[in-house]
Amino acid sequence: MSSASNPHAADVGRLTIAGGHVGGTIRVPGDKSISHRVALFAALASGTSTIRGFSHGDDCQATLSALRSLGIEHAWDEQVLSIHGHGRDGLSAPAAAIDCGNSGTTMRLLCGLLAPQGFSSILIGDDSLSRRPMERVAAPLRQMGARITTTDGCPPLRIDGNPHLKAARIEIDVASAQVKTALTLAALYADGESRVSAPGMVRDHTERLLPLFGCPVRAEGQATVVPGRVDLQAIEFSVPGDISAAAFFMVAACLAGHELTRIVDVGLNPGRSALIGLLQGMGARIEVTEHSAEAAEPIGEIRIWRSDLTGVDVPTELVAPAIDEFPALCVAAACARGETTIRGARELRFKESDRIETMAVALRTLGVFVQTSSDGMLIRGGEIDGGTVDCAGDHRIAMALSILGLVSRDPVTVIGTECIQTSFPGFQDLLAKAGATVIDNPETQVSGEVQ
Ligand code: S3P
Repeated sequence: MSSASNPHAADVGRLTIAGGHVGGTIRVPGDKSISHRVALFAALASGTSTIRGFSHGDDCQATLSALRSLGIEHAWDEQVLSIHGHGRDGLSAPAAAIDCGNSGTTMRLLCGLLAPQGFSSILIGDDSLSRRPMERVAAPLRQMGARITTTDGCPPLRIDGNPHLKAARIEIDVASAQVKTALTLAALYADGESRVSAPGMVRDHTERLLPLFGCPVRAEGQATVVPGRVDLQAIEFSVPGDISAAAFFMVAACLAGHELTRIVDVGLNPGRSALIGLLQGMGARIEVTEHSAEAAEPIGEIRIWRSDLTGVDVPTELVAPAIDEFPALCVAAACARGETTIRGARELRFKESDRIETMAVALRTLGVFVQTSSDGMLIRGGEIDGGTVDCAGDHRIAMALSILGLVSRDPVTVIGTECIQTSFPGFQDLLAKAGATVIDNPETQVSGEVQ
C-alpha cells in the first residue's frame, strides 16, 4: 500500500469497561512527542527521511498536514513514512490558515518554524486548542525578532515571517519542552549561536534528535546551545513506543494484572519516565530493562505485576517529567490505600482540558474523595463505585478513566472517547486483547499489539 493518508482513522464515541484483567506482552504506538519532532526536522532536512513507528494519532497527522500545506510532501508505505525535505529554506507559503486540530505541540512548534520564514501564516485549532496559552511561546520568540500576534493570548495566531531572526540567550519561564523546542527551531535560522534554557527538567527529544540530522546542538546544564544556519540531512529512524501511552497499561497492570504484563520496545527517556518511580514508590512491583539507546533515545521493556498501592506525596521536581502521566497517576491514587497529594502542577490546568478539574469531577462521580487547589489535588483512595463520566474531549483523561472500569463495583462508561484518536488509535482494542471486558466496542483498528 502506498498512501498519503492516515491508514488508522476510526471513530469511537463512548467506552464502557466492566471488569476483566490485564496481562501479556504489549506494544504501544510510536511516541507522539518524538514523531512531531522527527517530522518537523525531516521537513527542514535535504532529502527523504524514512521513519518507522511514526504515531498514527490525529495530533501527529496534524503536523504532517501542516507540513504538506507548507509544500513538504509525505507518503506512507505500509508502516513506513517518507518525508521529502527541501532543506531549511524549502518551505513555501500556505494557501490557507493551518489547522492544528487539538494539537498544542503542532501549534507551538510551528510558531518556531514559521517565525523565520519569508511569508506569513495563520494558525488555528479546535475549541480546546483555541483556549490554550500561546504567549508563553510567542513572547520569547519575539526576543529573537519574531512577529507573532495572538488573540487574547490564545489562537488564532498570525505569524508574519521575519527571515532575519537574531541569535539570543533566552530563559523561558515555564518548564515546557514545547516552548524550548519552538525556540530551538527558530534558532536554527538565526544569525549565530543561541542559548535556550528552561527551569527544571523537561523532555530532551529535540536535543537528542537534532544531532542525528547533523545539527550539533549541545546541552549546558538546563540550557541548549543551538548553532545558527546549520544544514540538516535526511535520516532513517525508528520511533520508540510512547511511554505516555504505556502509562495506562502500567496502571492497569498494577490494579488488575492477572499475570505478568510486559510493555516492550518503549521509550525510556528520563524526561518522560517519572511515573515508573512514582508507582514503585506507591508499592508497585515494576522492573525496567533498558535494551539500547539506539538512535539517541533509550528504549527497553517495562514489566509490571499486580500490586497493592498506597498513596504518595508527589515531589514537585517530578511534576514536569510526569506531566502527561497525571491522569494515569490519579487513577492509581484513586485505588490506592491512603491519600495522594499533588502540588506545583498548575500546568495541568492548561492541557487538552483543565486536568485538575476534569479529573476531580469524574473521580467524584465514581465515588472518590478529591480536593483540588490552584496547582494540585488530594485524592483519597478507596472503592470505585462505577458510573458514567465525561472526559471533556481530553484523550489522556478518557484512557485513564476507562482503566477504573477494571476494578470498579459497577462498569465505568466514559463518554467523548473519540478524542483517544489524538494519541492512541486502537487503545480500546488493545485493552480488550490484554483482558479487559470492553462493552460497546465498535472500533476495529489497532495501532499497538498484544502477543
Ligand atoms: C510535549 C511537551 C509537554 C507535554 C505535551 C508534549 C512535547 O507540554 O505535555 O503533551 O512534545 O514537547 P509542555 O511543553 O507544555 O510541558
